[in-house]
Amino acid sequence: MPKNITDPELIGPEELTLESSIRPTSLSHYFGQDELKRNINILIEAAKKRREAMDHLLLYGPPGLGKTTLARIVGYELGVDVKITSGPAIERAGDLASILTNLTEGDILFIDEIHRLNRVVEETLYPAMEDFALDLVIGKGPSARTLRLDLPKFTVVGATTRIGLMSGPIRDRFGALFRLDFYDEKALTQIIERAASVLNIPIDKESLNEVARRSRGTPRIANRLLKRIRDYAEVEGKGIIELPIIKNACELLGVDHDGLDYLDRKYLDCLKNTFDGGPVGVDTIAAAMAEDVGTVEDVVEPFLIQKGLIKRTPRGRILSNKRLD
Ligand SMILES: Nc1ncnc2c1ncn2[C@@H]1O[C@H](COP(=O)(O)OP(=O)(O)OP(=O)(O)O)[C@@H](O)[C@H]1O
Ligand SMILES: [Mg+2]
Repeated sequence: MPKNITDPELIGPEELTLESSIRPTSLSHYFGQDELKRNINILIEAAKKRREAMDHLLLYGPPGLGKTTLARIVGYELGVDVKITSGPAIERAGDLASILTNLTEGDILFIDEIHRLNRVVEETLYPAMEDFALDLVIGKGPSARTLRLDLPKFTVVGATTRIGLMSGPIRDRFGALFRLDFYDEKALTQIIERAASVLNIPIDKESLNEVARRSRGTPRIANRLLKRIRDYAEVEGKGIIELPIIKNACELLGVDHDGLDYLDRKYLDCLKNTFDGGPVGVDTIAAAMAEDVGTVEDVVEPFLIQKGLIKRTPRGRILSNKRLD
């Protein structure tokens, strides 16, 4: 059980099975992100028309918003294989070389957490993305020479929660770069409705809206909340999801009526009471909360900013006057 039900990153074994059963496999079941979908659709159709590998695509945004899901969907829509790896998993240039030489024409190589590629691997990836070539160094010392190996034309789909940590050269090698935003309640309602039908959970319109409102704009949290509320309804109620059940279940899970969780509230409380509403640097806030600054910046702040509760200013973070309570 996560300390924080809305922690967008926590995935246990139960959740992995859950994710694979409700993860949409076509663009028509990928709700919200309309502008992004239009753009991706053009990329897909153009690649199909030219019978070429699609342009390299970089997706960024907070965790749980659907980057991995989208990468897989692009693969289905193009009718190509998606090979999945991640920045920290590729330790040496040789690891990357073996992945690349095993690709077939048109395949997608999905690199999650691409900001965590190490320097040497990253430099091997440049010519691979640009010229579909791999420069191998054969031998050592004075007799060493490089050998250029041609690769099949493939597509890199990169995903990151931290675009700011990516080096310029790697970012520039992506022909298309898109940000995923938090979902509005309408899209979340559609996502929950679909998940409920896949999981066979009866839920009425009013309850759908209520769960959507408490999902922190994040599909992964929406799906997780739905499951936890069902459990609660079965154990504490008559198995029927209704407003009081949702309210009580969320209270127990530490999720308030706006979807703010324990960390969000801790952040706001800290900014308001310890630092008089700011301005204060994020490192200082994170230290006062005893939390990792990366988590604060990637997970906590984006949602609070989107909700208009805090602002990033050149002098530091400030509480916006919307948060008077
Ligand atoms: N647009 C969407 N429509 C329907 N379901 C979605 C959508 N986006 C995400 N989901 C659901 O949310 C879950 C989490 O999405 P996903 O794993 O793709 O997030 P992510 O952005 O890759 O997160 P992370 O950064 O943590 O890797 C998926 O299993 C899927 O069921
Ligand atoms: Mg992912």
